[in-house]
Amino acid sequence: MKDIDLATMSPDEWDEMNFPRPDVQDFDRVVEAAISRRGFMGGVVAFGSGAAVMGTSMLKGTAAMAGQSDRFAFEQLPIQTDGTVHVPDGYEWKVMVRWGDPLFSDAPAFDAANGVPSAGSDRVFGENTDGMELFNIGGGTELIAVNSEYANRKINLPNTEEGVPASAEDVVLLQQLQGVTVMEVAEGPDGWEVVVDSPYNRRIHHNTPMTIDGPAAGHDLLKTEADPTGTASLGTMNNCGSGRTPWGTYLTCEENFNGYFGSTDGLPTDEVLAAGYTRYGIGEEGWGYDYHKWDARFDVSQNPNEPHRVGYIVEIDPADPDSTPIKHTALGRFKHENAACALTPDGRVAVYMGDDERGEFIYKWLSRDKYVPGGDTSTLLSEGQLYAAKFNDDMSGEWMALTPAATGMDAANIAIFSRMAASAVGATTMDRPEWVAVNPTAVEAYCCLTNNKNRGVKPNAGGDDTSANGPNPREENNFGQIVRWRPDGDNHASTTFEWDLYVMAGNPVVHGDTAYGGSDNVNEGNMFNAPDGMQFDSTGIVWIQTDGDDENEGEFAGMGNNQMLAGDPVTGEIRRFMTGPRGSEVTGLTWSSDRRTMFVGIQHPDEPFPDGEGSLPRSSIVAIKRTDGALVG
Ligand code: FEO
Ligand code: CA
Ligand code: CA
Ligand code: CA
Repeated sequence: MKDIDLATMSPDEWDEMNFPRPDVQDFDRVVEAAISRRGFMGGVVAFGSGAAVMGTSMLKGTAAMAGQSDRFAFEQLPIQTDGTVHVPDGYEWKVMVRWGDPLFSDAPAFDAANGVPSAGSDRVFGENTDGMELFNIGGGTELIAVNSEYANRKINLPNTEEGVPASAEDVVLLQQLQGVTVMEVAEGPDGWEVVVDSPYNRRIHHNTPMTIDGPAAGHDLLKTEADPTGTASLGTMNNCGSGRTPWGTYLTCEENFNGYFGSTDGLPTDEVLAAGYTRYGIGEEGWGYDYHKWDARFDVSQNPNEPHRVGYIVEIDPADPDSTPIKHTALGRFKHENAACALTPDGRVAVYMGDDERGEFIYKWLSRDKYVPGGDTSTLLSEGQLYAAKFNDDMSGEWMALTPAATGMDAANIAIFSRMAASAVGATTMDRPEWVAVNPTAVEAYCCLTNNKNRGVKPNAGGDDTSANGPNPREENNFGQIVRWRPDGDNHASTTFEWDLYVMAGNPVVHGDTAYGGSDNVNEGNMFNAPDGMQFDSTGIVWIQTDGDDENEGEFAGMGNNQMLAGDPVTGEIRRFMTGPRGSEVTGLTWSSDRRTMFVGIQHPDEPFPDGEGSLPRSSIVAIKRTDGALVG
């Protein structure tokens, strides 16, 4: 046996000792199954149009699809490595709003060197824009609801050491720059702008009152000293991707909530709490926000249940600025990426959701009641059934119902500890499920599996084995892939489905004709890594945004900056449409109601984008149009 020196052991070695690498890999077999077997797209019938497809996007060595589609209205953009945004010929882009821009005329001025002061930081557009949706509420009024996922501490607190808060005031600044912005937007002679002082403008942040509903509402695990009812929490946190309901509300998705919590006096020893803290990654130190040192709500030694009150899907009515956001515990607690809604033929609401953690799961919610336009929608996200996805290697799949009988847990615990419930029914561990998107022109859904360096190496803490499996076929997967499924019976209520991989990202120049070279619809001209954001447009084109390694070196050479690509679901063709500034992630996409503008988010640029030298980098939303004014999706 190898000598073990605990003092010099790295965190990875520590993990390895506690969660040893599985013996059986059977790697080649699983990769072969995923990339060379004919799936439901494979070579014969395309769904959606019913048209014949020439070859398959997944078959190595067959005719590539590139260049065969005429559904894209642009030529492929080459990779870029500079500090600004690029779009193809025939398109133009303009910044609509930047972190720190005023929503109200009494907002503090943005300082190019110091950003936003703490007082009034809830009167400006938040930092690090992410998921967004545009709502036309009638009378020509267009509202965008948009997430501010996290705060870049070093940028917001330039005068503190390493951006660690040095006061309660610093903490309030960070808390108020995150969350959600609702803002009215309008197109004038100078392009799209925020309508300052619109009565709809609103900031929802880490201290905004929320209502909690669903099976966990009122449960002991949600009660705190400040809220003995367990039904009224403060704040929504780490709002990542988005969703929109058929009834015109906004869904914001709480992702890496664990990072805000810490402890001044150890972690809970209670068995249930401790297991939950481990599986959800809540530790004593937190991720450097240090809220717990200045705001007791985030100190788990004083408020051990507070973390149970985040990690949910939150519904916001953008048209009612006085409405209280609702946390829907029925849709589970995990690191929610986004929420993609679909209607079943009989009018029930299905919501697909990913849990963005290495080795965690994909979920589906199905409402009990039917959506009736103009009718009561109050039960649609609280009464129904939550499922977790099981993907079989034969390209079939099953939604496993998370019921008390199947999990051995009661309804409240299923809602609060959904990861454990999904483990109990044997759901399939995934390579970090990011956005799910539902195709409006076919009965199918897609999910970005962004990457997973731990695939075949180790599970999530407290989680399940992560040997390579059907939709996650590559060990130490640095590139990512997109899985899609088609429910049996063309019905999103179905508990069974077929799946295939729409694309496996990779580098065919570096890795050639191997699994790490990617699927056949990836080539030297369009390669990318880490698919993350994803939305379908109204014509059935899928837009893919990346959050990957943009060093343009080694395995990632030839991929350039993070980008947005367009994919044709039928032919498999993928074409690069835009690129973001160096260091940034491209995330969040929505359209004006006339479909002549697409709004795209630029998160965490590290260049002085968009203001230029002398300014802090500012996350921004850009508006992209065709120069001839034609439709863009
Ligand atoms: Fe916030 Fe998983 O991206
Ligand atoms: Ca994301
Ligand atoms: Ca990501
Ligand atoms: Ca991000």
